[in-house]
Amino acid sequence: MAKHLLSLEEFSKEELHYLVERALMLKRERAKGSVHRQLTGRTIGLIFEKPSTRTRVSFEAAMYGLGGQVIFLSARDTQLARSEPLKDMARVMSRYVDAMVVRTFGQEVVDELAAYSSVPVINALTDLHHPCQILSDIMTIMEKKGDLESLKVAWIGDGNNMANSWIQAAGKFGFELILACPEGYEPDAGILARSRAAAVRPITLIRDPGQAVAGADVINVDVWASMGQEEEQAERLNIFSSYQVNAALIARAPEESIVLHCLPAHRGEEITDEVLESAQCVAFDQAENKMHIHKAILEKFIA
Ligand code: CP
Ligand code: NVA
Repeated sequence: MAKHLLSLEEFSKEELHYLVERALMLKRERAKGSVHRQLTGRTIGLIFEKPSTRTRVSFEAAMYGLGGQVIFLSARDTQLARSEPLKDMARVMSRYVDAMVVRTFGQEVVDELAAYSSVPVINALTDLHHPCQILSDIMTIMEKKGDLESLKVAWIGDGNNMANSWIQAAGKFGFELILACPEGYEPDAGILARSRAAAVRPITLIRDPGQAVAGADVINVDVWASMGQEEEQAERLNIFSSYQVNAALIARAPEESIVLHCLPAHRGEEITDEVLESAQCVAFDQAENKMHIHKAILEKFIA
């Protein structure tokens, strides 16, 4: 297993399956009342340069739920905001904590922290990837659908950090992925090419959301303007207007399909309230599963 979790690319299918299966087991054990204490005496540092509800709280709950402790640092509270070099921050934090969980802008920030850190660095979202989120989404799909390899997964909207991590997941886990993105808002070309080269089933990029959801078992949607793109919000509302996941689009998908949204959702933009609140939407199970997958990640990377 790689020392750091920076994207899904560095891991084998077996390693990723292990994390998901372990999270499912930890979830079952917790439901039966088991108390986990395998990280007693361990501490993680959460360094977040962007807002977060789910990822922060689920990592904190996961660490406390394994008997460990958490130190949370927002960007404005650290010397990073005053331009302390990342390589210094990494070496100092390594002396205090057993892992760093980092949410930031550029992927190069987590890459550099990892290069200088003697403890694991875990990517809790960058502009390029959101790997821990996709693992909890895969866990949710396995709970709802069972075997992944026979599935067709659709991605509707922006070719953003989530889309990039979905592409890597498709290459690793072996499901079919079809992405419908507007022109100019495609996922990262290098990630797409590398994942396609390793994939056993097609990873397809098209424009038409209706075509993408036809025959899909899973429909994925995310905000049209990600954190850091707030000034593009109005322009993106126009560009993405035909990509809304609404009842008309869902009617073109199989009845037994499920809808995933990593949240936060902008109801009335990328998804309607009707679809988000429907029985087909599993967004709140996804949100819960973030805590279980984070337990599996922390246990594996810190142990
Ligand atoms: N899905 C997710 O990462 O949510 P937060 O931004 O609230 O952490
Ligand atoms: N693509 C979104 C995901 C939020 C969890 C963002 O980066 O803001």
